[in-house]
Amino acid sequence: MTASRIILLGPPGAGKGTQAERLCASHKLTHLSTGDLLRAAVAAESDLGKQAKSFMDAGDLVPDALVVALVVERLGSGEEGAGFLLDGFPRNVAQAEALGEALGESKIDCVVHMKLDDEEIVRRLLGRGRKDDTEPVIRNRLKVYRDETAPLIAYYEARGVLQTVDAAGTVDEVEARIGAAIEAAGCEGVS
Ligand code: AP5
Repeated sequence: MTASRIILLGPPGAGKGTQAERLCASHKLTHLSTGDLLRAAVAAESDLGKQAKSFMDAGDLVPDALVVALVVERLGSGEEGAGFLLDGFPRNVAQAEALGEALGESKIDCVVHMKLDDEEIVRRLLGRGRKDDTEPVIRNRLKVYRDETAPLIAYYEARGVLQTVDAAGTVDEVEARIGAAIEAAGCEGVS
């Protein structure tokens, strides 16, 4: 059995959270979503939540130091078990470098880049209606994605772990494409 270490990379609304839940169930991976962890911190009104809230409401990135600490704490707790799937992290090169340092000898096995065009993204997110799903905030999240997160595509391609999948189509179709991509990268399920 391989302890798979997978990243889902993609714009807001590409379906990272939806697919992460399915993949983690089928491949017995721990799901680490920085968006979910931050929203829980905001709901709990913790210090972290109070610091993160205004950035999230505007669709900007929460400062790296806060987010990196959150992920490193989880990875260091051993709760990732046989493997993990990161959804929404890293979000920029500084976070990717921090992740690399935290993992040490254990490398990321596969980064799945979920590609989707802006109009379909806006359509999906307006249909969901989360607090940060208003059109101006969605447009800012897309800009932040292009400016800060999209450079990770080349970053992970250069490391030979990038797989790009089309995120349009039904949830089942996208799941099948991601399954094929992670298999092509040598990641195995345990079920
Ligand atoms: P985060 O929670 O990571 O949001 P996001 O990247 O904007 O992604 P979403 O959750 O909107 O979309 P998704 O790709 O997960 O799609 P989903 O499956 O939900 O981040 C939120 C904020 O937290 C950031 O703006 C930032 O402030 C902060 N943050 C988080 N991580 C950070 C980090 N590392 N550093 C700094 N700040 C950070 O699907 C979307 C909708 O589409 C759903 O309604 C779903 O049902 C639907 N859908 C999914 N798949 C399909 C399909 N195939 N067909 C039709 N509909 C579909």
